[in-house]
Amino acid sequence: MSEAASVATESTFEILRESGPQSDAGFLWDFWYPAIKSDAIGGTRLVTAMLLEVPLVLGRTSGGKAFTMRDACPHRGMPLSYGHFDGKNVQCSYHGWEFDACSGRCVEIPSLTSHDKLKVERISADSFPCEERDGYVWVYMNAPGSRLPETIPATPELPKFSAKYKITRLDCELPSHIDHGIIGLMDPAHGPFVHQSWFWRSKKSIHEKSKQFEPMPLGFRMSKHSPSTNSAPYQLLKKMTGEAVTTTIDFVLPNMRFEEIHSGKLWFSSRATVTPVRRDLCRIDFVAAWNLALPVAIFRAFAKVFLRQDQQTMIQQAEGLKYNPRLMLIDDADRPAKWYFGLKQNLLESRRSGAPMVHPMDGPVTLHWKS
Ligand code: FES
Ligand SMILES: [Fe+2]
Repeated sequence: MSEAASVATESTFEILRESGPQSDAGFLWDFWYPAIKSDAIGGTRLVTAMLLEVPLVLGRTSGGKAFTMRDACPHRGMPLSYGHFDGKNVQCSYHGWEFDACSGRCVEIPSLTSHDKLKVERISADSFPCEERDGYVWVYMNAPGSRLPETIPATPELPKFSAKYKITRLDCELPSHIDHGIIGLMDPAHGPFVHQSWFWRSKKSIHEKSKQFEPMPLGFRMSKHSPSTNSAPYQLLKKMTGEAVTTTIDFVLPNMRFEEIHSGKLWFSSRATVTPVRRDLCRIDFVAAWNLALPVAIFRAFAKVFLRQDQQTMIQQAEGLKYNPRLMLIDDADRPAKWYFGLKQNLLESRRSGAPMVHPMDGPVTLHWKS
């Protein structure tokens, strides 16, 4: 090979490394992420999912416990999801190695004879901590090659405020990087343009708003306030109870937006998570619970309209983002987005240095915008 050719090869490799699967995709590891809905697993079914570009295989043991492994056999990489599951062990379809589904530990290598000294139990498929909450299977995604921390934080749960309630789940995929998915979620200024509907608001209803925000661990809160007067559902709620309506909205790393609405004894609680599937794809999982006299089917019909409007917008935005245009974040409407980037950066910095995490907000602050 000529010298010129070898140089070209090396620089090509550099480019591949920068844009290829080895470059940092901007994911936040060491957090819980929802992988699939609980009702997707059961029996001897093996189900696949992808989180943070890690292919996963999930299932449920005959004892009812959900499990998650990397969907690759530690022998020669065959996806374990092509294998056989008997309710306890997963058997790889290629050479029949068997793994305990919950721990990933190898329990059988069929090709071994009495001449072999290989310790089967020292071999493991990668397994991930996995818990079910609110009808989702959550997976704790520790960074590849890193050890699990000694204590894993509690799995996120949707707050509920009475014993009886209705609950429903919706999801939609966004062809976007996780950061664009998340700042879309906390962006107050798109409402009157993207979510114009007779039942919500129109462009004409735009008016100036002031909202107080306060820092919270790994996130920030839009302090308890009376929600926008230009939204019909809130006015209806007030009429129903005769009591003031209050709402609180939290954003918490890595990807969660919680909203709580209360009026007298009535409550509505929702959580949207934006989960990175790949660097160019994320998924919104939206779960809502309430004790209002609101039929699930009606709520779903409205929520679907909203999600579809957001999804359509993100599909169009992805077109614009394809060729790396210049972007800007403005005050005050994009300040929450700036906090998100600040939180993310400061968390990574504190993990790197071991020093406590610095919060990007000094204290409570009031933001002003029109929407
Ligand atoms: S690749 Fe799985 S047993 Fe060989
Ligand atoms: Fe939206």
